[in-house]
Amino acid sequence: MMGGGEFSRFSMFGRFGRLNLPNSRNLPNLTNHYPVCYSSLVAATSLDQIVSLSKRRGFVFPGSEIYGGLANSWDFGPLGSILKENIRNFWIERFVTKRQDMAFIDAAILMNPKVWEASGHVANFNDAMVDCKECKARFRADHLIEDKFPEMKADGKSPKELTAIIKEKNIPCPRCGSKGKFTDARTFNLLFRTQLGTLEGEEARDVYLRGEIAQAMFVNFKNVQTTTRKRLPFGIASMGKAFRNEITPGNFIFRTLEFDLMEFEYFIRENEWEQWFDYWLKEEQKWLKDLGIDSTKLRVRQHTEDELSHYSKKTVDIEYETPFGWKELFGLAYRTDFDLKNHMQQSGQDLQYMDPDTSEKFIPHVIEPTFGLSRLTLITLLDAYHEDEVEGEKRVIMKFHPRLAPVQVAILPLSKDERLIKKAQEIYDLLNQNTNLRLDFDLTGSIGKRYRRQDEIGTPTCITVDFGTIGDDDKQCKKDHVTVRDRDSLLQKEVSLAELINILIPR
Ligand code: GAP
Repeated sequence: MMGGGEFSRFSMFGRFGRLNLPNSRNLPNLTNHYPVCYSSLVAATSLDQIVSLSKRRGFVFPGSEIYGGLANSWDFGPLGSILKENIRNFWIERFVTKRQDMAFIDAAILMNPKVWEASGHVANFNDAMVDCKECKARFRADHLIEDKFPEMKADGKSPKELTAIIKEKNIPCPRCGSKGKFTDARTFNLLFRTQLGTLEGEEARDVYLRGEIAQAMFVNFKNVQTTTRKRLPFGIASMGKAFRNEITPGNFIFRTLEFDLMEFEYFIRENEWEQWFDYWLKEEQKWLKDLGIDSTKLRVRQHTEDELSHYSKKTVDIEYETPFGWKELFGLAYRTDFDLKNHMQQSGQDLQYMDPDTSEKFIPHVIEPTFGLSRLTLITLLDAYHEDEVEGEKRVIMKFHPRLAPVQVAILPLSKDERLIKKAQEIYDLLNQNTNLRLDFDLTGSIGKRYRRQDEIGTPTCITVDFGTIGDDDKQCKKDHVTVRDRDSLLQKEVSLAELINILIPR
């Protein structure tokens, strides 16, 4: 059962939390069709629950569905895209606009292919794959091993080592069950290749869709530093789509071929790297807490030597405990001066920083916090998902943090009576004009059904307009009052219209 503590924890509507909720008037007509408390909230136990809710309520749809879809492509629907946008905006606010040491860029997806040669991605951005000779299915060799033996870390091992493990453990094909039928592991480059120059007779030129956003920050280092005159330490942040030719995408939107990334490169002096590494790890964790993510499901895991990316001296992952195991949510890497140094060598441009006080010139080192936005949206859905059972019927409650909820306040006339609809519309207009709250207006179905629908999309607050509001029935609300209902505690409170905005506006 949820108590008042839970209510105040999740309520962004600061003053709302201080209302004397337990002494609220009884409002029997609004609770008749709905429980007054949750009996047994259970968190998500399988990804299928999220896939099904996403389709049913419009968070995420299968891509190109009317043509049978396209392997592992997904479209964010009306609620999912707003949820993702809310996370993105909170990231920009926290890490860019509210900081003096960060500059933001919006870079092109296509870059000169020399960028990817200098960054080491053409040579090193590889995964090892095996094919089943029996059913022709293709798998990422490290995933094949880790799925069978979750305690083993196979990421980063050489194709030869992976082949040996698969043989030694006699791992069967997950698709057809055959044993001993895998090819030896071979490397496969993850960069997505495309071509420029499609005119007839013209020779096409291979380019890559960006595999990470980071390179845009490195190649723009000089432009940004000279135009903003930022001094070390400072960061360059960006966000947008990244593309990877993943061998085995899957687990809904967890691993896809195209996904949204948000990342920044934080430029520092070499001798300060440990201090900034610790600082950014704490900031990443703090941000996750402020998103409302359950901290008991988070852990930090350091990469082994084998796992480290070609550019990194130290990397940690923040992992989340999903129904399909502990999985990487974000990464944090110390990239040394690897990228700037290589771009300087390959481009012939001077990418050094000059200390304005001492005129000392050097290549800065870099700490890189990187946030997978599409993956975080999935984790937000997973973390928020709860089920309750009332009279044998399953109900879903999405306990989004109010700052992320696609709809923050729903305005519900108790019935389709013209006078109630008119009053509710006035309240909607009042809130729309005087606040930045994301609002919904819903009048289809019984009030119980509408509460249920709002719980399922994670709306923290519902406002119900009844006959009391318009002065017609004093057994319902008092005149010029509405019932304000909290999603998490299910507590209801009568609030005067004069007081309403003050109660709802976030502090
Ligand atoms: N610039 C560093 C970098 O890109 P990464 O660990 O390869 O680091 C960063 O990726 C984040 O992007 C991951 O922590 C994860 O959240 C997300 N990510 C990586 N591959 C993904 C995929 N195929 N689909 C969805 N998200 C992915």
